[in-house]
Amino acid sequence: METVLMVCLGNICRSPLAEGILRDKAEKLNLSITIDSAGTSNYHIGEHPDKRTIANANKHGIDVSQLKARQFTVADFDKFDAIFVMDSSNYSDVISLARDEADKMKVEMILNRVYPNSNMAVPDPYFGGEQGFENVFILLEQACEVIAKAIQIKLQQGV
Ligand code: 4NP
Repeated sequence: METVLMVCLGNICRSPLAEGILRDKAEKLNLSITIDSAGTSNYHIGEHPDKRTIANANKHGIDVSQLKARQFTVADFDKFDAIFVMDSSNYSDVISLARDEADKMKVEMILNRVYPNSNMAVPDPYFGGEQGFENVFILLEQACEVIAKAIQIKLQQGV
């Protein structure tokens, strides 16, 4: 069993979408992965994803409407094998809570899986329009495809 956590600022736009996309891919590939998401902030704790995120995901056949925002905690370093962040500010916020090198090693900018070492951000769509949400979907779909395939290989190898 592989465990993956998706992290953004509010846990209502980017990370719940990443969670939904990776879960969809895991189901289609029949992979056993535990997937969750969290926000670095406490702004939206307990809320469902943004309406625009829910609508965008629906358009692509993915249901994220029942997810609820929670805040990232230090215990997440123990619960998850991999922690994917959306931008460099998420990265610093999560890294600042790391207790040791092993914790830090779990944290990765998600688009580095598509564009290695680029440290590209998944742009925050919260203050923009619909197109921003579609752009986030396209980027996260590419990243989750790479992540799912890598986990598939890892599980096949039994490591
Ligand atoms: P997210 O987007 O980090 O992708 O969930 C945001 C949601 C809310 C806020 C910022 C970003 N906010 O400032 O409330």
